[in-house]
Amino acid sequence: MAYKLLFVCLGNICRSPSAENIMNYLIKEANLKDKIICDSAGTSGYHIGAAPDRRMSAAAAKRGIKLQGKSRKLQPSDLVNFDLILAMDRENYRDILYLDREGKYDKKVVLMCNFAKNYPEKEVPDPYYGGQEGFDKVIDLLLDSCEGLLEHITSSEAYQSQK
Ligand code: 4NP
Repeated sequence: MAYKLLFVCLGNICRSPSAENIMNYLIKEANLKDKIICDSAGTSGYHIGAAPDRRMSAAAAKRGIKLQGKSRKLQPSDLVNFDLILAMDRENYRDILYLDREGKYDKKVVLMCNFAKNYPEKEVPDPYYGGQEGFDKVIDLLLDSCEGLLEHITSSEAYQSQK
C-alpha cells in the first residue's frame, strides 16, 4: 500500500496544488512513484473545479514544474483516507481539525513548514492578493519543505512498515 499525502490550503488553486506537484516531481526523481501518492484540497469551496492560478503556474514553470489538477473541497473522509495531511498555514490547520471533532486524526495533521530546512517561516503565506514575488516565494518555500518532507517520510516508521 502506498503512503498517502494530502496538501491543504484555502482555495486549492495556489499553495496546495503547488505542494502536490512539487512533491510529485521529487517523488518521481527519487523513483518512489508507486510508494507515495499525493493529492490536494481546499478548506473553502470558492474555486471548486478550477485549474491552478495562472500566477502560481508561472512561478512553478520558472522552476520547471507544471501545475496540474482541479480544485476540490476538503471532505471529512479525507481525514480517514490519508496518512499525513499538510496544512499550509495555521488557519488551514484549524479548519482541518474542525472536521475532526473527536480528535481521532489530529496526529495526522501538521504544518507544512515544519519540514522546511532552510527557511525560518512557520507558515506558507497566502499569495492570492499580492504580487508575483509572493508566488515565487511560495515555490521556494515549498521546494525546501517538500525536500524535508520526503526525507522525513522515507525515514519514518509508518512508511517503512507500509513498504
Ligand atoms: P490558496 O490561495 O489558498 O493558496 O489556493 C487562495 C486562493 C483563493 C483565495 C484565497 C487564497 N480566495 O480568497 O479566493
